[in-house]
Amino acid sequence: LDQKGYILIGYSGHSYVLYNILKSTDKIVTAYCDQEEKASNPFNLKYLGTETSEAAVAELEDNPFVIAIGDNAIRKKVYASLSAKQLLPVNAIHATSIICQSAHIGSNGIMISAGVIINPLATIGTGAILNTGCIIEHECSVGSFAHIGPGAVLCGNVNVGPQTFVGAGSVIRQGITIGANVMIGAGAVVVKNVPDNTKVLGNPAR
Ligand SMILES: CC(C)(COP(=O)(O)OP(=O)(O)OC[C@H]1O[C@@H](n2cnc3c(N)ncnc32)[C@H](O)[C@@H]1OP(=O)(O)O)[C@@H](O)C(=O)NCCC(=O)NCCS
Repeated sequence: LDQKGYILIGYSGHSYVLYNILKSTDKIVTAYCDQEEKASNPFNLKYLGTETSEAAVAELEDNPFVIAIGDNAIRKKVYASLSAKQLLPVNAIHATSIICQSAHIGSNGIMISAGVIINPLATIGTGAILNTGCIIEHECSVGSFAHIGPGAVLCGNVNVGPQTFVGAGSVIRQGITIGANVMIGAGAVVVKNVPDNTKVLGNPAR
């Protein structure tokens, strides 16, 4: 690349949000990796090939990058294959997010969108997505490669397991534990613990 800058891995809707997060703190985004060159290139980025191609790996060794893939399982898989080559994605944190000093934010691959609030002693795992305007209250824990959807609210002391998706606008009552690989529908109100590998919907969520 002619200029050092951030590289997006994945270049569709979710990556557009990540692009905007990086721009909010004046980062320069130069290129992307994907399965194929995209017909739609709204930010005029250079195509580097797949993230495993020789040309792309050379650039990923030299430039900061983010994994811009919303699907939790695929994001985790791509993270694993890159970290095996000692290539680790950076965090992307929007300028308008509010993160308490006592919150513990992992070092790699975390996305924190516009308007997110993270309150005291919350813990955010590697590769997690905190989407637009969600609220992570005091002492919550968000597992690795989990995704908290836009506008969702985790009340205090909620635990969200790894690779779990919490739908847009849902509310999780304080003290609740949600297992790994769970799907919580948009707008759900969760008032009971949720076991691993399940899907729950509605108010109260079942
Ligand atoms: C829960 C969800 C995954 C279900 O998707 P799906 O498996 O394709 O389900 P369908 O749309 O076929 O709906 C199946 C039934 O569940 C109901 N349903 C779907 N989503 C629901 C929700 N969020 N809350 C309550 N009921 C819901 C449907 O009305 C339908 O009911 P019916 O069988 O009585 O007609 C999806 O609707 C959803 O909420 N996804 C999260 C969206 C989101 O938060 N996106 C943010 C992206 S950043």
